[in-house]
Amino acid sequence: MILLTGGAGYIGSHVSVALLDAGLDVIAVDNLSNSNNASLERVQSICGRSLAFCHADIRNEEAICNVLRDYEVTAVIHLAGLKAVGESNAEPMTYYENNVLGTMRLLSAMKRASVKTLVFSSSATVYGIPAYLPLDEKHPLGPTNPYGRTKFFIEEMLKDLCKSDPDWRVGILRYFNPVGAHESGLIGEDPVGIPNNLVPFVAQVAVGKLEKVRVCGNDYDTPDGTGIRDFIHVVDLASGHLCVLNHLKQPGALTVNLGTGIGHSVLEVIQTFEAVSGRSVPYEIGERRTGDVAACYADPTFAEKTLGWKSVRSLAQMCADHWRWQSKNPDGYRGAQYQTNKLK
Ligand code: NAD
Ligand code: WQD
Repeated sequence: MILLTGGAGYIGSHVSVALLDAGLDVIAVDNLSNSNNASLERVQSICGRSLAFCHADIRNEEAICNVLRDYEVTAVIHLAGLKAVGESNAEPMTYYENNVLGTMRLLSAMKRASVKTLVFSSSATVYGIPAYLPLDEKHPLGPTNPYGRTKFFIEEMLKDLCKSDPDWRVGILRYFNPVGAHESGLIGEDPVGIPNNLVPFVAQVAVGKLEKVRVCGNDYDTPDGTGIRDFIHVVDLASGHLCVLNHLKQPGALTVNLGTGIGHSVLEVIQTFEAVSGRSVPYEIGERRTGDVAACYADPTFAEKTLGWKSVRSLAQMCADHWRWQSKNPDGYRGAQYQTNKLK
């Protein structure tokens, strides 16, 4: 049995599908602070199998310890966390408490239950301002905001833990920019309020919920002047979790980038979204966003060499799948009812 923290969220719901489809059993734990467990209902429909759900907070060590023991968990995939960069600048202590303290409590519960295999959701944000591109795993770390620092501190904590006790096997996954949705259009990203990130924003403009995209700067040193990012399909990202789980045979911490290695500009994203959706996506050029870098993309070769994993889905597929989800669910899961009784 695999415990998935943050299992009801955007990436968690897609990782649930990957695990269930691979024949593994899953217990998802989530406090539903940024999600709706209708996502897990839909995961069950996609997979034709059930998963278990526990409405709990990772900071509740006793509750997590009970889950680990009651469900005979053998490994944990830890996605639970707060992830909004702007909010982390305004409320840093909320981020340190939820992400860092939450992970400490989770690790303590795991130690008590003798479960010492963990996959952790880190972020390319730990690299900070790129000194060179593409970013390989040896690039120096220097996160530039509290959210990024929570990921950095957790990574360091996990490495220290592995040094202190050879029973621990830890995968640290540095995600680049996850976008897209499951091809069924049943699960996808469901941001609360106005989206912070580019692709959900573009999707809400295409569906008519928002008027136009504000392109944050067109004077960067890039071919079209707009920012370049490594967008990765969330289904490819999810399959990376399965690969790393299968490769955690050696003690220690294994740190891996999950990206495509290909950078796409903001304008390319808008144009591709228009092409696959058949909708127009009006935009205006605005000021640069504080804290943004011109370009950020991965060197994904280590993942391919060590895990045999690489992304296969194109930007067009990311946009097409994101659009299917957005157009079928214009109000996200809010149109769906909570049906926790159908979850075990
Ligand atoms: P999400 O908000 O959709 O999912 C996170 C889930 O964790 C939510 O369901 C939320 O309710 C839950 N959660 C938060 N705090 C919790 C707590 N204390 N106890 C229990 N549950 C809690 O976000 P996501 O995009 O699916 O991200 C998943 C993970 O991946 C996060 O750790 C995030 O930092 C990391 N990540 C995301 C991105 C991205 O762009 N989406 C990029 C890099 C890394
Ligand atoms: C992408 C590009 C913007 C919105 C963030 C986090 C990072 C990680 C992934 C969690 C940039 C431009 C955006 C808009 C725009 N999350 N943009 N108009 O900033 O690369 O990464 O999500 O770990 O930590 O920082 O992603 O989607 O916000 O921006 O022009 O309305 O789109 O300037 O160039 P980002 P993003």
